[in-house]
Amino acid sequence: MLNIVLYGEPILIQKAQKVKEFDQNLERLTLDMYEAMKHDNGIGLAAPQVGISARLFVVGLENEPPRIFINPRIVAMSEESSEYEEGCLSFPGLYFTVARPSAVDIEAVDIRGRPFRLSADGLLARVIQHEYDHLDGILFIDRVSPAKRRRALAHYSRMLNM
Ligand code: NI
Repeated sequence: MLNIVLYGEPILIQKAQKVKEFDQNLERLTLDMYEAMKHDNGIGLAAPQVGISARLFVVGLENEPPRIFINPRIVAMSEESSEYEEGCLSFPGLYFTVARPSAVDIEAVDIRGRPFRLSADGLLARVIQHEYDHLDGILFIDRVSPAKRRRALAHYSRMLNM
């Protein structure tokens, strides 16, 4: 089972490298990431969260097939935004409300390198944006006001010391 790296590891705040090899290792990695995500009851996981600098993430919403996004680009986002309580497997136990665009269009390639485009709204759009941020070293604590960020981190470090 892949280990999920927690907040504090430098890789979580670095920009990930583009995926260039579409081979069995990549397939293995995505399967292992999906398994680790499900094991921790997550609905999305990005490669930097398992210590790998690669622009890819997996999404697994309830009652939906697994989705894999490799070298993704968000090409459009709605002006309308919505708020939702997010968590992150790299911050176990920390949840808070984050505002993001309600809908996005994303382009990516699949496990064989074949391009696709997807329009997403609702929870899928939410997860896509959260995971996409991980590829640029952006964390959900970076998407709130500085005051809220400080409170969240203080709460998180108290929780870790419990
Ligand atoms: Ni996350």
